[in-house]
Amino acid sequence: MKIVTVVGARPQFIKSAPVSKALANAGHTEYIVHTGQHYDYGMSKVFFEEMGIPEPWINLNVGSGTPGQQTSQMLARIEPAIMDQKPDIVLVYGDTNSTLAGALATVKLHIKLAHIEAGLRSYNRQMPEEHNRVLTDHCADLLFCPTQTALDNLANEGLTDGVHLVGDTMYDAVLQFSTLAVEKSSVLSRFGISPKDYFLATLHRAYNTDDPQVLRSIFSALQQISDLVIFPIHPRTLHAVQKGQISIASNVRLVDPVGYLDMLILEKNARAILTDSGGIQKEAYFFKVPCLTLRSETEWVETTDSRWNTLVGIDPDRISSALHQQIPADRPHPQFFGDGHASEKIVRLLNL
Ligand code: UD1
Ligand code: UDP
Repeated sequence: MKIVTVVGARPQFIKSAPVSKALANAGHTEYIVHTGQHYDYGMSKVFFEEMGIPEPWINLNVGSGTPGQQTSQMLARIEPAIMDQKPDIVLVYGDTNSTLAGALATVKLHIKLAHIEAGLRSYNRQMPEEHNRVLTDHCADLLFCPTQTALDNLANEGLTDGVHLVGDTMYDAVLQFSTLAVEKSSVLSRFGISPKDYFLATLHRAYNTDDPQVLRSIFSALQQISDLVIFPIHPRTLHAVQKGQISIASNVRLVDPVGYLDMLILEKNARAILTDSGGIQKEAYFFKVPCLTLRSETEWVETTDSRWNTLVGIDPDRISSALHQQIPADRPHPQFFGDGHASEKIVRLLNL
């Protein structure tokens, strides 16, 4: 089969890496269209290098912009790329503007569309990701769900045809790259830190970064932790910190975004993780590291229902009380996210 894969943002490179490998193993030909949504070396190329993702066939170099500009430029440039290849199927991942643009370009060309990580819902229509997910799911012919909740969400919207519960390709990636990360990553010694001696934080949701008052309260909550917080800072957040002249306490160490292998080591060895990232909430769960989610809702409800993850918003008191809760050693840790072979299942189902 001829496959076109549309990706463009950091988490999509990670989600797609195990699928690209499974496609190649099954003898399919994949053409990767990189929209250029993320373009810094540390937000893009590092993942292709570390995870052995095939070189993109084409980079559309769309770059940053307002949501409308970014999505429409992607749509205009993806369409001719797909027309050029005339693939049997197009794969899109997750919930970014690259996902939606890829989905729209594909359905309008009457080509089969598969959405990987389908059915997620935060039910917060303020999030651009929520628009992107809902619209993409309603365009897709094949919907690959990472969790039972995702499958149920789709059923509630009347989507049952072409829907498959396969597990999460991010879990596949963690299983495939954890050993390599231990062998290759020197991040703990480079940063002069020891296992369980630090907290790990990341932040990039628009509603947390774009209002200087909100951003200031998040950094003041991090200050109150007083222990070391390693903070690989997303470029969006760095710009907001600089623009808002937000002061950073001495216990918070801002570092450049790190590669995937370093990130796995930082996550696994953190005392706890504070984040508003979707992917990092799950990775905290995979590593059994307590997670505090700096949001008021999550689409990864399994992690909160099982109490490995706590929604703390941006409230310093909730952050502090969640940090002081001990997780009992025997807390149940069900395999909500599949068996680590989601990618192979997806590739098998593409043939049907
Ligand atoms: C995007 C996705 C979000 C995803 C996140 C993963 C949308 C609407 N949002 O958010 O769902 O969780 O990626 O990280 O698609 N920038 C750089 N260099 C880069 C990339 C971005 O400097 O390589 C800066 C630019 O100033 C840009 C800003 O970051 O304006 C935001 O980038 P953008 O891709 O629009 O959104 P993200 O916040 O990264
Ligand atoms: N990640 C990384 N380096 C970093 C921050 C994140 O490799 O400095 C990885 C992280 O391990 C996870 C993915 O990027 O696999 C999550 O992406 P992000 O938080 O940007 O987006 P989201 O998951 O919220 O869409």
